[in-house]
Amino acid sequence: MTESKAENVGQSAYQKLLDDLPRTGPGSRGGEMLRRYWHPVCLSANLTDIPIAVRMLCEDLVVFRDGKGRPGLLGIHCPHRLASLEYGQVREDGLMCSYHGWRYDTQGRCIDQPLEPRDSDLKSKIRHLWYPVEEWGGVIWTYMGSEKENPPPLQKIDVLARTDGDVKLVDGDVRNYNYLNWMENFADMGHAVVLHGLQIRDVPEELKPYNDYSIKNWTPLPLEHVETEFGMKTVAVLDTGDPEVKFVNTWSMAMPIHWRFSGIRSGFPPDFTDERQEGGGMIRIIDDTHFELIRYNLFRNGNFPGPIVFGLPPGLKGTTEKKAHDKRPYSGWEGVPALEDLVLQESQGDIPERRLEHLGTSDRGVIMMRRIWHKSIEDVATGKDPKGVERKQNGMLEVDTFHGHVKVNELKIGPENMPSSRDGQGLIRDKEGKLVFGEPS
Ligand code: FES
Ligand SMILES: [Fe+2]
Repeated sequence: MTESKAENVGQSAYQKLLDDLPRTGPGSRGGEMLRRYWHPVCLSANLTDIPIAVRMLCEDLVVFRDGKGRPGLLGIHCPHRLASLEYGQVREDGLMCSYHGWRYDTQGRCIDQPLEPRDSDLKSKIRHLWYPVEEWGGVIWTYMGSEKENPPPLQKIDVLARTDGDVKLVDGDVRNYNYLNWMENFADMGHAVVLHGLQIRDVPEELKPYNDYSIKNWTPLPLEHVETEFGMKTVAVLDTGDPEVKFVNTWSMAMPIHWRFSGIRSGFPPDFTDERQEGGGMIRIIDDTHFELIRYNLFRNGNFPGPIVFGLPPGLKGTTEKKAHDKRPYSGWEGVPALEDLVLQESQGDIPERRLEHLGTSDRGVIMMRRIWHKSIEDVATGKDPKGVERKQNGMLEVDTFHGHVKVNELKIGPENMPSSRDGQGLIRDKEGKLVFGEPS
């Protein structure tokens, strides 16, 4: 069988995209795209008086505060004889290598070489690898792109900027696979019905009709994927056992590392209690096959009864019984959505062999996401800003999400309950109060 030339061209272009997509290192097309955005390095609270080794986008670095409290990010190996600056000493004006005392400021300038002759100009010839750092919202951020001398302003994150509740940041959930396995999960909403069952455990009898995945028109899922100025979102409006009540679920992604799920949450009938929390998180990309999740949530005073837990606590176990003959790494994993996601994402491979996939109609979100990533990679390759890069000062990433039950044409989810929404854009109702998908025109 012969293949047409056009097919060959198309396939090789797609293969090229699949090769580029998961790459995060310097000089790779994926990595160059990622370097056009600000990235989290660590939480402010964790950076005290000791330098911390940190691998970012395949580069081994050290983050520290100088004696004045100013954060800095340098290459980890001292340019003298390559000792690790992880063991360096914090000084008033920078970080001193413990081996022979060479000292660096936060911009990588070498400001002392105590063993060199007084009149040596060697230190003026040394400029160590450095990246600009900003501290905002409880997070140390860096920009690792070619514009590092004059980077675009740090884009603020709506949830972290809020003052009408308690913002909680949780780090430390490190995964051993490519960051896109995680991000694609947010474009792939169908998995929620199969993998998680969308079943809330211990739901009271009277609320079961609203949490009933036996309702036939949930499959295929009525999903809408919407490209946004910051990335994309997926919205599902699902029937419940009560024709008046819908279950709405929104997942959003902001290029290239932010996700939102369970933003403003409305609980069950009859009062549709507003749970008064908004949240999501971001990825610290370590390298092609490792990343760390940094979750952020805003908790406001409200009538949600709590307790609220989020994240993946260490040692988390599924709810199913582990059989003695089950030797799989995560046996007994079923029953906890966060653990279910981890198991299945990791099982795809540290960098999945995506050319072996067979995508179907339910993968429209994944396909949209790849188009968005592809466009961003191409934009960077041709000297343009990729999607979501904000050049204006004090830019704010505003992502609205909603999760929960709504009574058709009665409950209004207005801007007052969705403070992160910009001009009502993306609300789940139109101006007449009818449920809508995505952005009203
Ligand atoms: S190796 Fe760092 S000062 Fe010599
Ligand atoms: Fe999931």
